[in-house]
Amino acid sequence: MAHSPAYSYDAGVFRKRLEQDAEFTTRAMETLLPIDEGPEGQLMDAVRYAALLGGKRVRPYLTLHTAALFNVDPKCALRVAAAVEMVHCYSLVHDDLPAMDDDDLRRGKPTCHVQFDEATAILAGDALLTRAFEVLSEEGTHQDAMVRVALVKELAKSAGAFGMVGGQMLDLVAHQHDLDMSEVARLQRMKTGGLINYACMSGGILGKASDSAMHKLHGFAHDLGLAFQIVDDLLDATGNEEELGKRTNKDAGQGKATFVSLMGIDQARDQAARLRDQAIDQLNVFEEKADPLRDMAHFVVNRVS
Ligand code: IPE
Ligand code: IPE
Ligand code: MG
Ligand code: MG
Ligand code: MG
Repeated sequence: MAHSPAYSYDAGVFRKRLEQDAEFTTRAMETLLPIDEGPEGQLMDAVRYAALLGGKRVRPYLTLHTAALFNVDPKCALRVAAAVEMVHCYSLVHDDLPAMDDDDLRRGKPTCHVQFDEATAILAGDALLTRAFEVLSEEGTHQDAMVRVALVKELAKSAGAFGMVGGQMLDLVAHQHDLDMSEVARLQRMKTGGLINYACMSGGILGKASDSAMHKLHGFAHDLGLAFQIVDDLLDATGNEEELGKRTNKDAGQGKATFVSLMGIDQARDQAARLRDQAIDQLNVFEEKADPLRDMAHFVVNRVS
């Protein structure tokens, strides 16, 4: 039997689980990113500002619940979840810089470069990115060094020039090229899909999952990542600044190529819902153990922040 027949999405139950997992991740990050009393202490202040305050913690949730499919020790999964979130937080700090999206509000607070200064924000991003790899390489992450190497290598690929960072470059130059739908999909797959894919694959890597299970996780992550960015773009066009904790109407203002700019709001919404269903279909083989991941697919499309 493939489906979980009793499955239905309960937004309230999911919210509680997401918040609890977010709390675990934040606590783990707090330990992994200690205060620094030295004259360079401002760096860790900015790191902690960017990493510990707010955020939905969607990517850590994905790591924790894909790892749970393979009965991975939750302590190991939490370290990987924290590392993924560090990379995500770094990407937001740099994304908000004046040279990029030039934003002053993030997670309901002044962006890192507004709260500190540009140089400190750049360094805080650098510190988060490098610390993530350090955490993955440490023994507490997995007893098998081959697993740790695989985690490091896949994160480097997902976050690098052919993943997230390449996607950010495409995002910046998109207005100079007339991107069509498949090119925008590629942009989104790289800039946002890269890390979401890693978050899902990392659970499988930790659990030494079979090739066929990895393939299913990859399919799930692909569709979920695309849906996630489509909804991010929809929220930019239609969302509420207060709920979102970030500025709206930025993409149109900056001439960004998005699904919303190409398809319009209604079609983009339909596309996100289709991708959600497709993502959920990929999980059949994991039966009811994947219900937390099914929940996430629903949340990603329904969210207002
Ligand atoms: C925002 O990500 C940036 C994108 C990659 C679209 P999230 O919506 O996950 O932001 P936080 O972590 O909850 O603040
Ligand atoms: C950011 O995309 C993607 C990364 C940080 C890799 P956006 O620029 O759309 O994210 P928001 O809308 O500022 O959160
Ligand atoms: Mg951006
Ligand atoms: Mg941005
Ligand atoms: Mg956006």
